[in-house]
Amino acid sequence: MSPSRVLLDTDPGIDDALAILLALAAPELDLAALTVTGGNCPLTDGLRNGLNVLALAGATHIPVAAGVALPLIRPPITAPETHGDRGLGYAILPASPVLPVAEHGVDLLIREIMAAPGDVTLVAIGPLTNVAMAIRKEPRITEAVRELIIMGGALLAEGNVTELAEFNFYVDPHAAHIVLHSGMPIILLPWDITQHIRLTQADVDRLLQVGGAIPQFIADATRFYIDFHLRHFGWAGCSINDPAALALAFQPDLARLQPIYVDVEITSPLTLGKSVADFQGKTGKPANVRAVVEFDQERFMALFLERMEALTHTAAQRILAEE
Ligand code: BDR
Ligand code: CA
Repeated sequence: MSPSRVLLDTDPGIDDALAILLALAAPELDLAALTVTGGNCPLTDGLRNGLNVLALAGATHIPVAAGVALPLIRPPITAPETHGDRGLGYAILPASPVLPVAEHGVDLLIREIMAAPGDVTLVAIGPLTNVAMAIRKEPRITEAVRELIIMGGALLAEGNVTELAEFNFYVDPHAAHIVLHSGMPIILLPWDITQHIRLTQADVDRLLQVGGAIPQFIADATRFYIDFHLRHFGWAGCSINDPAALALAFQPDLARLQPIYVDVEITSPLTLGKSVADFQGKTGKPANVRAVVEFDQERFMALFLERMEALTHTAAQRILAEE
């Protein structure tokens, strides 16, 4: 079977970087491009991080496009306390030799999806600004996309940024609103689930045994992220939300899905960005997403670590071949 074409819309970001690496470590996927938006860090930092992570893995051929820098309506919010001042914790990567492509990220999303109707999976692991703009510019993508997999929202869980709201929905709730009501086929992986998917120091130590630049990067980036989770939530280990969303593009059986109607608050300053899922069917509205309600964390973590080990070997060979 030929690999599935995937677009990754991202705000790199420590766990975004892990999702990029997992995409490169998945022969089941053909990563078409990264489209970047502001979120964990400002757009320019996210672009640099995306390019540098691709270069680290010898994948400079994958285009990186700048998308929309700021949320649709709200002032921007970034997360230096979670992801560090430059977005990748303590990691400082060598600069990629390539630049972002000239094409705008929103146009790239539209072009790729419309070029192969029914074939392209879009995985969105940042605020949904680019996806919402793409829907507004070319509404036909809602029918042409194979699937949109979103990491975002907190359905039954408390939020991770406000008491109620999850970061990606909180940063751009208006974009999330457009996307949820667009009619796109959506798989929603919420914070309810991803907060339990944790990379521990022991996992990182196992990767460090392999040696090489990728394990060292993961160790340097996640040391910051692990410290943050301990300080902020009192957890040992960091939740790696975004690679779990990416994994659903090639291992959908990791998740049990429930069709459900989900909306997001865009009016009240008190509850802004809160996602509300109609678990009891009280609205009578048809499901607009398939939400992940169970996820096999153990199998995912085993897969993630195996794939990072394998990528460390293949990336070293790829980089040598390029030299
Ligand atoms: C989401 O917000 C960001 O901090 C992470 O990269 C992830 O996409 C988790 O709420
Ligand atoms: Ca992210």
